[in-house]
Amino acid sequence: MSEQVTNGGTAIRRPETVSRAARSREANPSGLEPYLVVRDLEVTFPTADGPVKAVRGLSYSVPLGRTLAIVGESGSGKSVSSMAVMGLHNPQSTRISGSIRLGGHEVVGMRQEELRKLRGSTAAMVFQDPQSSLHPYYTVGKQLIEAYRAHHNVAKAKAAQRAIEMLARVGIPNPKKRMGDYPHQFSGGMRQRAMIAMSLINDPKLLIADEPTTALDVTVQAQILDLIMDLQRDFGSAVVFITHDLGVVAEIADDILVMYAGRAVEYGQVNKILGAPLHPYTWGLLESIPAVSGEPARLHPIPGAPPSLLAVPSGCPFHPRCEFREQVQGDLCRTETPDLIPRTADTSRTSRCHLREPDRVFETTVLPRLP
Ligand SMILES: Nc1ncnc2c1ncn2[C@@H]1O[C@H](COP(=O)(O)OP(=O)(O)OP(=O)(O)O)[C@@H](O)[C@H]1O
Ligand SMILES: [Mg+2]
Repeated sequence: MSEQVTNGGTAIRRPETVSRAARSREANPSGLEPYLVVRDLEVTFPTADGPVKAVRGLSYSVPLGRTLAIVGESGSGKSVSSMAVMGLHNPQSTRISGSIRLGGHEVVGMRQEELRKLRGSTAAMVFQDPQSSLHPYYTVGKQLIEAYRAHHNVAKAKAAQRAIEMLARVGIPNPKKRMGDYPHQFSGGMRQRAMIAMSLINDPKLLIADEPTTALDVTVQAQILDLIMDLQRDFGSAVVFITHDLGVVAEIADDILVMYAGRAVEYGQVNKILGAPLHPYTWGLLESIPAVSGEPARLHPIPGAPPSLLAVPSGCPFHPRCEFREQVQGDLCRTETPDLIPRTADTSRTSRCHLREPDRVFETTVLPRLP
């Protein structure tokens, strides 16, 4: 028996024994039945300079009612992988392989028409910049009404009522009146709230929030985070939250996936990973936090910069920046890519590093309010 895996159009035969072994090593941090299951996801952009492999062998899962945070430096593949989950890539210019199952339905290879039905009803995404999602020429109310009617066969008046309820739910004062406003008449924070209202108007089971608060000032950021957490509690959705801010992760996420150069390098429950990270890249991220509420800033940035995806270093892609590679025997870090596997007795968490017994136990003092 063997399994067919398509990789950029080429069918690769993989012995079943290998894939079963690989699968048994995939972490399921909560042990709950997942709603979103991403497995061996690869996203490649053919470019004039060669193929850009933006996401490589990515696997994770998110159950309903739980929040997964995806973190990593700029260019690590957070947005590209999430856009694949939403079926937002142009099929003409993007090669996608692997599997993305959403409530049992396979998203990879789904027809555009089905994808459109899925987006906004089963799954919704909030972006950093609501300008890109709210149309400047239509009133906020009209856009909310249309978003609802795209998936519900109801009269305008009923949809308007639902829109007003949603605006009220996300904390927009005087929602009936604000329905007639254009996006530019809203403040940045209000626009982001309206965007969240639009995302949630059809009760999606999955919400992906891609740095939804980065463009907002700190007070508004905190309000929007509270709002997303409240709404998740009420709607019971699965949430994927993309952020650069590990303070935010500690605050709102259950699980964390750390990405580097298109790959997951550490994955598991937030309290375990941020409490005792196993990957030197996660150590680096924790040490380079500018400042977390009440904590002093950590000024020990990771040396160097992430690699170009057209020239990813051999072996462990992080090895040129890693201060711990000397502690691994031989030339392993340069020559062999480590697997993402459990590195401790706890099989619910995995990391991708050759270090066997980390000589340094990372002492965490950064986390604001961990359980
Ligand atoms: N259409 C495209 N063609 C070629 N390369 C692309 C394309 N879209 C994204 N990339 C590349 O894929 C990589 C991953 O991009 P992605 O947007 O997922 O990063 P990110 O982790 O979300 O970063 P940020 O934190 O800056 O948002 C980047 O190197 C980016 O340049
Ligand atoms: Mg991004």
